[in-house]
Amino acid sequence: MAFRSTFLNILVLTQLAILPTSAADQSPDLNPRFWNEDEGFSSPPYYPTPNGGWLPNWSEAYEKAHSVVSNMTLAEKVNLTTGTGFFMGPCVGQTGSALRFGIPNICLMDGPLGIRNTEGNTAFPAGITVGATFDKDLMYERGVGLGGEARGKGVNVLLGPVVGPLGRKPRGGRIWEAFGVDPSLQAIAAERTIKGMQSTGTIANIKHFIGNEQEMHRMTTVVTKGYSSNIDDRTLHELYLWPFAEAVRAGVGSVMTAYNDVNNSVCSQNSMLINGILKDELGFQGFVVTDWLGHVGGVSSALAGLDMSMPGDGAVPLFGNSYWAYELSRSVLNGTVPMERLNDMVTRIVATWYKFGQDKDYPLPNFSSNTLDEKGPLYPGALFSPYGVVNKFVNVQDNHNATVRAIARDAITLLKNEDNTLPLKPDDPLKVFGEDAGPNPDGLNSCKDMGCDKGVLTMGWGSGTARLPYLITPQDAIGNISSNAEFHISDDFPSDVEVNDNDTAVVFINADSGENYITVEGNPGDRKEAGLKAWHEGDDLVKAAAEKFSKVVVVIHTVGPILLDEWIDQKSVKAVLVAHLPGQEAGNAVTDILFGDYSPSGHLPYAIPHKESDYPESVNLKEQPLGKVQDTFTEGLYIDYRHFIKENITTRYQFGHGLSYTTFKISEPSLSEETPLNDAYPPPRKPKGPTPTYASTIPPASEVAWPEHFNRIWRYLYPYLDNPEAVTTGGSYPYPTGYTTDPKPGPRAGGAEGGNPALWDVAFSVKVKVTNTGNRPGRAVAQLYVELPSSLGVDTPARQLRQFEKTKILDPGESETLTMKITRKDLSVWDVVVQDWKAPVKGEGVKIWIGESVVDLRAVCEIGGKCSLAE
Ligand code: BGC
Repeated sequence: MAFRSTFLNILVLTQLAILPTSAADQSPDLNPRFWNEDEGFSSPPYYPTPNGGWLPNWSEAYEKAHSVVSNMTLAEKVNLTTGTGFFMGPCVGQTGSALRFGIPNICLMDGPLGIRNTEGNTAFPAGITVGATFDKDLMYERGVGLGGEARGKGVNVLLGPVVGPLGRKPRGGRIWEAFGVDPSLQAIAAERTIKGMQSTGTIANIKHFIGNEQEMHRMTTVVTKGYSSNIDDRTLHELYLWPFAEAVRAGVGSVMTAYNDVNNSVCSQNSMLINGILKDELGFQGFVVTDWLGHVGGVSSALAGLDMSMPGDGAVPLFGNSYWAYELSRSVLNGTVPMERLNDMVTRIVATWYKFGQDKDYPLPNFSSNTLDEKGPLYPGALFSPYGVVNKFVNVQDNHNATVRAIARDAITLLKNEDNTLPLKPDDPLKVFGEDAGPNPDGLNSCKDMGCDKGVLTMGWGSGTARLPYLITPQDAIGNISSNAEFHISDDFPSDVEVNDNDTAVVFINADSGENYITVEGNPGDRKEAGLKAWHEGDDLVKAAAEKFSKVVVVIHTVGPILLDEWIDQKSVKAVLVAHLPGQEAGNAVTDILFGDYSPSGHLPYAIPHKESDYPESVNLKEQPLGKVQDTFTEGLYIDYRHFIKENITTRYQFGHGLSYTTFKISEPSLSEETPLNDAYPPPRKPKGPTPTYASTIPPASEVAWPEHFNRIWRYLYPYLDNPEAVTTGGSYPYPTGYTTDPKPGPRAGGAEGGNPALWDVAFSVKVKVTNTGNRPGRAVAQLYVELPSSLGVDTPARQLRQFEKTKILDPGESETLTMKITRKDLSVWDVVVQDWKAPVKGEGVKIWIGESVVDLRAVCEIGGKCSLAE
């Protein structure tokens, strides 16, 4: 089976001829500290790129990198910065190599829930499911599984986790790839995932940096320009950047830029974002890579801090053209891109490779993401390609099915359970309805990149998918347990179904979404057509069942918020479960809960409103037939629960809601001060350490001449020039306003990976005792929300999740004490004038709430005062 043709269609349809934009995208004459509406949403310049290598925990890797990069030719250096071209190798993207130093083509491969487009892999639950577990151990375990599988397949850089989109737009197509609509939930899940992944030696990639909240109009093409996410400085820092900062602090090796613009500058060449925020303020030491075909300018992106172009192609993919490769060689030889910048790009890439030990026994790719056949073209994008073995069929699944099942199960969120309808008994008479309970009638994995909604929904669609190695459907799993189940695997309610008094109807419905290059049932990634309703008239199916049966249980597989008001209050709708996107163990996870082997312990990673118009208008999908979409984040910090609480809007179910078959009591809250917040701002950062130095002279042109007797592959991207000696210096280049090569002093909010390390000083720790007060075993989640005082001088959301902990399985009567640590940053706001994080001195006026959802608050602690149980 070949994957390539679909990719080519996609290219032709959506990505043909990306228009170059220039560094002039950078706006002139702005105070670099601000960008806001009054200034017309433009992104200020920030130059030069801070060189990597100044942090002690990276110095060993940088020293190793320095010793090899010092001896590289210009061609070798350029090779490592640029992909070899779309479909020019086994992975979704690979760089050129520097084999003299043992550095192979570095393989980059999707994605966030499994190794895409191969076999012998695991299809883990999606990010949104992981978020719903509120379980830090499972988050880590999944990261280890993903990293282990990537390594086993020879993937150097696994393209995940996703924290952008953050989930600002409930209809946004890719919110399911990330962990939920809250920056701390995203941050904690990303940190756990990255640590897990990178413990195996695989390099993680946090994406998409930043403001990628909608799929439609995301890219700059001949017909449209990518939308601009217009984000003010404070909102950027407190919401969208928050999880990226935590990822950098976790030591993430690579960052992918988003397709869209931020403040009217394309993310892949936005100097304020890459040079200023990511590399200076957050002290990022790894490398920055474009999203695929998101490269829009050669020199401009290099100067703005980009380190790697993927898959390497330029404006028109698959023609052997690039903004970098041979063009980067040219712009270094003609003196436009300083040698120092190229050296930094390569050093960052090679240092990251060393940092994760990929110089020692790291496998080469043993699979092809282009085909499942054993043999095929080595470079399918080439006109004439050598042919050979491309798939060795290495099975990397290990025992990860257990992790999949545990996550899928512990994410299942019980919204409602009247009359203790759940759990069911194996001999309860069941009538099961809905296509979502069964298999894809066209066959497992029959839809490319899961671009259809057929059968049980295990993941959304697009590049963030993996092929299912097998699938346990709800029908299979219920059939294994129930002695008395009848299945109607259809979205039409059967006219002839027999209804008996004792019957329980179990209705499966779903809501899908995905990435923009595939449109499913009128939904171009985003849920444009479906809105927030169940697909395939799922609401009608539930209503029809509710009319006939007196006990109805609804199971929902969904990518994000889904409206329930059409039927949830009907008397016969007794129980509702959100099973999120479970991956390959869908059925087993749901029966673990339905039949009571486990109590549900998932919590909603977003709120469910009564109606879509309850959201701020600014988070609707944005479209514009002509010209560029300006998507201004006018709601600021007020998305999801922050908005609903501020506007006093009652939701159907709030963020964090999730019932169990048992009940829990939170008691004995206590708070202790750890590192006193003596000042509003963190203590001064340390200055940067030294970075590797190299000769800044332009290397001899001969270093990028075609090697003799070189067997060129047509369309493959090379660093070589036909006549390099003809390239001369002395031309002029319209450098962007504000361009300089003089290094800036490090920003005061920086100082280490993630920012000033004092931001992670633990200011307070909170303990609570959680007791199982019901009569079944179960797990509880304590969610910690902060309420910041008005003395900070800025309007701040009334509650913000900052921590959570989940108990082990508690038997009836059993207790566990959970400890949650609150850092200085957790209590801070971003001060846009001082450009630093500002906390209330001594934590004065801060309230810390602990609860089972953002509105089900059980205890409160006042700093300097006492903790008490909430009324
Ligand atoms: C997606 C990325 C993905 C890349 C490579 C892009 O279209 O936005 O998330 O990693 O393709 O497949």
